[in-house]
Amino acid sequence: MRILITGGAGYIGSHTLLEILGEKHDVCVIDNYSNSSPVALERVAKLTNSNFVKVAADVCDERALNNVFEDFKPEAVIHFAGLKAVGESAAVPLKYYEHNVQGTIALLKAMEASGCDRIVFSSSATVYGEPVYLPYDEDHPCAPTNPYGRTKYFVEEILKDWAHSNDRNSVVLLRYFNPVGAHSSGRIGEDPDDIPNNLMPFVSQVAVGRRSKLQVFGNDYDTPDGTGLRDYIHVVDLARAHVAAVDYVAKNRGVDAFNIGTGKGATVLEVVKAFEAASGREIPYSFGPRRAGDIAASIADPAKARKMLNWQAKHSLKDMCESSWEWQSGNPNGYRSD
Ligand code: UFG
Repeated sequence: MRILITGGAGYIGSHTLLEILGEKHDVCVIDNYSNSSPVALERVAKLTNSNFVKVAADVCDERALNNVFEDFKPEAVIHFAGLKAVGESAAVPLKYYEHNVQGTIALLKAMEASGCDRIVFSSSATVYGEPVYLPYDEDHPCAPTNPYGRTKYFVEEILKDWAHSNDRNSVVLLRYFNPVGAHSSGRIGEDPDDIPNNLMPFVSQVAVGRRSKLQVFGNDYDTPDGTGLRDYIHVVDLARAHVAAVDYVAKNRGVDAFNIGTGKGATVLEVVKAFEAASGREIPYSFGPRRAGDIAASIADPAKARKMLNWQAKHSLKDMCESSWEWQSGNPNGYRSD
């Protein structure tokens, strides 16, 4: 198939691009490099020994999108492009609505104009909000607690309406839990622009000496050791979920949401311990107050994805930490190490 990947140079985008190219699909990537690097694309091209089309443009740029659809004629789209910092989204919500919601509408208009009717959307477990029960299944009520989460939720609703607007459209919503880790080559990985917001990149930057210590946000949660518990998923497993989802939109019509997680949780301190074992480095940490908006625990019920996408996570927390370390130690300054 000819597949357009928006945001294909980003962390999850680049890992997915690599897996999709491995399946011999033809690919066009559109990325504005706002929180990503063109070096990631060069490295994927080398690793897979394949060519693909690259367009440096914003997904909100309707003219650029129309050109891509006219030239490349995608048969399916995997839509990653968007902003993703929870804290920032509360400070500048309009920017988030513009990029995430308006960007998706522009994309859908370009798809309609060219007759492309299949899309896989990069959603998030954050759409569920405070758990009413755990593990979350796809029928859990959605009540996101921050503007970023609401952009994901609103885009899901828009995509549902679009899916129902005719009987050819096909939509898969992938609700990611906590993606971490890196490709086994150590050549691509997570490379945040600024101070990392997320646990794993922060821990790996402490291990490599870029930061002095980790602050653990809260140790009084109702979890086995009092620290926050999450369902961490290896980014290569997550990338493989997109391969399965592309296959699914090609064969099915309508709209489906799937949790993409392992079904197992790890606390912050368990992650720290696993990372110390993987890296052979000590991770100094201290306990600080809870981070605003955090929940105690988040775990996926991934049964629906296993049954309907024939997809299941394979990698352990040890694999996640070892591959993160391989990437971080080989590229201490991320893609700027080049
Ligand atoms: N944490 C720390 N110190 C840090 C960073 C994180 O203790 O420096 C803790 C958090 O409090 C939490 C856990 O580590 O308990 C995981 O935090 P992350 O920021 O890595 O991940 P979140 O679960 O908060 O959020 C992530 C993504 C969101 C996404 C959500 C989906 O960042 O974009 O998962 O559930 F929406």
